[in-house]
Amino acid sequence: MKVGVFDSGLGGLTVVKSILSTLKGAELYYIADTQHAPYGEKTQAEILSYSLDITRYFIEKHHIDALVVACNTATSAAIETLRETYPELIIVGTEPGIKPAIETTRSGKVGVLATPATLQGEKYQQLVDAHVGKREISLYEQACPGLVEQIEQGKTEHPETETMLRNWLEPMQKEGVDTIVLGCTHYPLVSSLIEKIMVHHLNLIHTGDAIAKRLLVLAREKGHQNEGTTKLHIYATGEIEEKSISNLIGKKVPVSSVSLTL
Ligand code: DGL
Repeated sequence: MKVGVFDSGLGGLTVVKSILSTLKGAELYYIADTQHAPYGEKTQAEILSYSLDITRYFIEKHHIDALVVACNTATSAAIETLRETYPELIIVGTEPGIKPAIETTRSGKVGVLATPATLQGEKYQQLVDAHVGKREISLYEQACPGLVEQIEQGKTEHPETETMLRNWLEPMQKEGVDTIVLGCTHYPLVSSLIEKIMVHHLNLIHTGDAIAKRLLVLAREKGHQNEGTTKLHIYATGEIEEKSISNLIGKKVPVSSVSLTL
């Protein structure tokens, strides 16, 4: 099983971490499209074009069987077109965990942190419409411009990042939000800061494990045995903080640079 995974940068590695503990005997190719990061502040058309270029590259260079869009923003902008363009490919996307958040909140007050593009996208609205209304829920949606850049620069515990997060989270804390949806795959990298600011007991919803399980189910349906070791190859289209990668993955993985022009 050859799997291509992509994101605008380091964020998708939070999903790769879950895949590595679930999927055995696979070749995993990860592209961090840092040349175009952050996706969350680009137009839908730009994000779609990057997603199509990366997928075509994975197919032509690595002959992938499965694609994981490890990015909420790219899923919102591109998943439908990717599925129409490559019907044979297993495709798993990433969506904010609104459903698990609604199922676990006690106060009925749920915060959603995501990129501006994800929150403005039609897909997000459809997701909310499908799940909110099942019980009395207040959603506190917050776009976090600038946060992905801080994370990409390795500033996950920096006072500047803390100030940004405080401005967004303190109003939620005062309202009694007890569950926060991490609607961007970069945000698990600032979980400790989020927990510190929110003070009281907090559920943080991140969908990496659910994505990995879904990938395994679809891979097995295509005959994947799930035995042996999985090898990870990392590529970046621009600069990337290699130290953050080893912190995340737990070991040093070399990064090759890649140009997507075929
Ligand atoms: N990690 C991405 C997401 O899940 C996108 C971050 C960005 O580039 O803005 O939305």
